Amino acid sequence: MRIGVLGAGQLGRMLALAGYPLAKTFVFYDMSGSPSAGLGEVMIDRDGQYLDDFISRVDRVTYEFEHLPLDIAEKIAASKPVHPSPRALQICQNREAEKSLFGELGIPTPEWKIADSAESLQAAAEALGCPVVAKTNTEGYDGKGQAVLQSPEEAAEAWNSINHPRLIVEKFVEFRREISIIAVRSESGELAFYPMAENIHHQGILRYSVAPAPGLERHVEDDARRYIKALMNELDYIGVLTLELFETADGLVANEMAPRVHNSGHWTIEGAMTSQFENHIRAVSGHPLGSVEPREVSCMVNIIGEHGDIRRILELPYARLHLYNKGERPGRKLGHVNILADSYKELVWRVRNCTQFLPGSPEFTASLTSKG
Ligand SMILES: Nc1ncnc2c1ncn2[C@@H]1O[C@H](COP(=O)(O)OP(=O)(O)O)[C@@H](O)[C@H]1O
Ligand SMILES: [Mg+2]
Repeated sequence: MRIGVLGAGQLGRMLALAGYPLAKTFVFYDMSGSPSAGLGEVMIDRDGQYLDDFISRVDRVTYEFEHLPLDIAEKIAASKPVHPSPRALQICQNREAEKSLFGELGIPTPEWKIADSAESLQAAAEALGCPVVAKTNTEGYDGKGQAVLQSPEEAAEAWNSINHPRLIVEKFVEFRREISIIAVRSESGELAFYPMAENIHHQGILRYSVAPAPGLERHVEDDARRYIKALMNELDYIGVLTLELFETADGLVANEMAPRVHNSGHWTIEGAMTSQFENHIRAVSGHPLGSVEPREVSCMVNIIGEHGDIRRILELPYARLHLYNKGERPGRKLGHVNILADSYKELVWRVRNCTQFLPGSPEFTASLTSKG
């Protein structure tokens, strides 16, 4: 079976690495002009002129990247199975559509408003009460295209710096921590939920994910499962879906979802019985799902901007290094290290040992470390 992947970055690379043992082959379709997947067949097509050729070469199609023109996905879906469906893609591309769907399904979100001018941004900030977070309604990732407003007077400056015609303005959530849930749904509607991860961001970029999220209360995880299940059923979803959430004193608040494998699930490569990548390939291929049970406790450490002392990391017996074949650039995701341990205490020690070889790593301050 030949799987077509829209996008050709590190997520596509890891999908292929997981799919080869199942005898899948991969054709990547890249519209950016700078693919980094580095394996499989890669078609670079900046203007969409080779789309028919791509379609003719693949049996099924999925995404590793959601910021691509919807009509491309729809055109493919007219002749080949596309999972998840173009509708899921359409909603995940648009924060307004996403938050509206959350609301319809009873999934709590921060209060939000739309702004299409500096004046309406200021009015939204006044109505919601600062601080607020303004985000581009489409195209954002890794915290790009966002600004936090501490007062409505900052609206003009934020509007100019974001420089986008349509923003979503959200009330700033005073969260205890950020957590995410990754679930997978098969063609037959079978569902599996990975243990949730606690995610630590720095300057808008994910730096650490600890899974299973330490100290997570059962009822909180049940809520997250209920929310993502509602989304998957509503979208008749096939594949891996990720839901990013804030844990607050009053329960969970949903931030955003991604119709694909997710950085906060990279720990599953060694940390779970079946990785998110393999389970996504299984689902998209029409196979039964694999076990999502964790093996031990895990932490995923992102390698951002520069590679650091790779040699020393390779010497650590408990560190599993994954490099993405990308050049160094500030803020760029270059790879990650998965660290497993048989206790959280041991995990903290191992993570700190590893990050000394990754310059620019923020201090590892998961909820674990504050509780000692
Ligand atoms: N309403 C909010 N309140 C508090 N923090 C937020 C809010 N929205 C976003 N953030 C912070 O910014 C990060 C990136 O925002 P997100 O909406 O996930 O955008 P992206 O698509 O860039 O991942 C979040 O992980 C969180 O740390
Ligand atoms: Mg996010």
